[in-house]
Amino acid sequence: MAGLQEDDEGFQVVKKKKGRQNIKTRNVDSISDVADDFIDTEGLKVKLWQSRQELKPSDFIQDLKETWKLVKQKLESDPAIRSFKDKMISNDSEADPASHLPPELLVHLGQLPITEQIKKSFITSIVCYGLGNFSTCAIARYQLGFLLLLSNMVLVPHSKCFCYDPRFTKSEIAFLKDLGLEVIKENEEGKRVCKEPTLLFMPHCGKPLYNNALWANWGNDNLHNLIILGNSFSSFHERIPEARLFSEASYIAAILPFTTEEKVKNNFKHTDIFNDMAFHIFNSERMKQVPNEIWEQRTEPSYDHIEDLEIILKKERS
Ligand SMILES: C[S@@+](CC[C@H](N)C(=O)[O-])C[C@H]1O[C@@H](n2cnc3c(N)ncnc32)[C@H](O)[C@@H]1O
Repeated sequence: MAGLQEDDEGFQVVKKKKGRQNIKTRNVDSISDVADDFIDTEGLKVKLWQSRQELKPSDFIQDLKETWKLVKQKLESDPAIRSFKDKMISNDSEADPASHLPPELLVHLGQLPITEQIKKSFITSIVCYGLGNFSTCAIARYQLGFLLLLSNMVLVPHSKCFCYDPRFTKSEIAFLKDLGLEVIKENEEGKRVCKEPTLLFMPHCGKPLYNNALWANWGNDNLHNLIILGNSFSSFHERIPEARLFSEASYIAAILPFTTEEKVKNNFKHTDIFNDMAFHIFNSERMKQVPNEIWEQRTEPSYDHIEDLEIILKKERS
């Protein structure tokens, strides 16, 4: 992986990192365990705004919108998602907004009734794991700028964007809250159960986090609620021998043949921020084709046998 380092003029110098960072440095239970620090909040706001402004008109975002349209069409054709949408609409008696404002603005002003939001997008929340230290790392900062654009694109208000990284510092947590985003309090190790369609944005996360998210929603009655935007599962498959993938991330390996993947075109000017990303969806009709034996294998993942662990676990699991 490569990293961006800040130079005198800005923050756009790409430096190659040697190998992947080993993140098994400590175990973390909750955000009360995080480090104290001091950041220049105003300076950080400006830098974040700049990254967002660079991203917004880019071909990368325009192409991503097209990819999202495709993903949305595929989700729309899923009977389980359609029935969720119908149920939400029939349960909600709020009047349609009589506004000329665009839906992205209405949703962020809290003025778009849930019915309208669900009609236009099926995603009820975004969960972002593994952003990293955006106050010191330009890659993570661009990814945060992207998260803000993503929430607009899928019409999810900031109050429904839940972020967690055990590396977040106290100031970073306060900064995220100031943006109106939610910060998850506990280290869930990626095991959030999603009862409604949820977009998991997991930029450059290690395999165990994806594996845990799949495990927590394992079964053909729930997995269709996950939409994962993160490292391409098929790339894991191409790069890692099958037996090793099964041993290190058995849920990724098992669901891969039934997963629909839409690759994200990596054409942003800094090529190491959104590389190797794809949307992954788990269509409920395809999930019915998964043999029962596969669903029955649902032992909680354990990573004790992995030397270079790519996840920070809770303390009691060390
Ligand atoms: C390879 S880094 C990616 C950082 C940044 N997004 C990037 O692209 O450079 C993986 C990130 O996953 C985070 N991570 C590890 N365990 C986690 C956990 N249990 N929950 C959420 N994030 C976790 C790490 O702290 C780290 O920031």
